[in-house]
Amino acid sequence: MALAVVTTAHHFRRACQEARLEGELALVPTMGFLHAGHQSLIQAAGQRAPTVAVTIFVNPAQFGPGEDLSRYPRDLAGDLRKCEEAGAHVVFAPEGEREIYPPGFQTHVEPGLLAAPLEGEKRPGHFRGVCTVVLKLFALSRADAAFFGEKDYQQFRVIEQMVQDLNVATEVVGRPIVREADGLALSSRNAYLSAEERGRATALWKALGAARSAFRSGEHGAAQLEELAAKAIAESGLRLDYAAVRDPVALQRPQRADGKSRLLLAAFLGKTRLIDNGALGEAQ
Ligand code: PAJ
Repeated sequence: MALAVVTTAHHFRRACQEARLEGELALVPTMGFLHAGHQSLIQAAGQRAPTVAVTIFVNPAQFGPGEDLSRYPRDLAGDLRKCEEAGAHVVFAPEGEREIYPPGFQTHVEPGLLAAPLEGEKRPGHFRGVCTVVLKLFALSRADAAFFGEKDYQQFRVIEQMVQDLNVATEVVGRPIVREADGLALSSRNAYLSAEERGRATALWKALGAARSAFRSGEHGAAQLEELAAKAIAESGLRLDYAAVRDPVALQRPQRADGKSRLLLAAFLGKTRLIDNGALGEAQ
């Protein structure tokens, strides 16, 4: 099937409606500047359903005032090639913000406790913007399943909770983080890094590795593991935003970590903010 590219909400709804007559529909929401991490979601979606829809929309509602909305990288032509290569069938790339937030738009989704700490604390309003756009994309597509990366682990949990709380019919599927050979998690924002910064960007992966090996050696104290990760990040010259050990469901801090507890990391490398996370019990 050739790739159908639609730019209006109306046409997206119609394309998805037609696809759903043939069988299930799987959705992959993105902000574009696609990489192999996004492509892995498209491929997984293709395993699940005969039609895969990808959305490409840099959602202003999830960016704070001082953040990188105006310089967020874009490459629609490259994205369409990557969508096709990964097996997508429909791409919704709204031409302007007004297609999603027309004049008079006034209703938002306010997530709860899961959205309060970590990214929610550092980026006030971020998850409100994420939930609002994701619910709109679910409503337009009426997808049977939607695929999200564990790269944004808290986002994945917040969306799972939204779907449960609001009785949304779309199943939320989480997928593992795709990494460069040296461990750096793929991210559209990696494009901001200078060559020198790119060298140091593995600090988060190394911090995760240090915490995992300490965990394996018997250190299960959450505070101790957080401190160890924070130190590894600072030693690489990054400015730590947070290093947090959390349970994988409620994202609360356990006294003592188990193998499923996740270490969640955020740090600034120059002006670029990097995030990463992983389960402490996983091999690295
Ligand atoms: P974006 O950052 O473009 O990411 C789109 C999806 O790709 C998210 O589910 C994200 O977790 C996943 N992803 C990013 N890097 C990944 C990697 N290295 N490995 C695996 N998956 C990865 O997340 C957003 O856009 C937006 O918040 C969105 C959900 C589209 C709402 O606007």
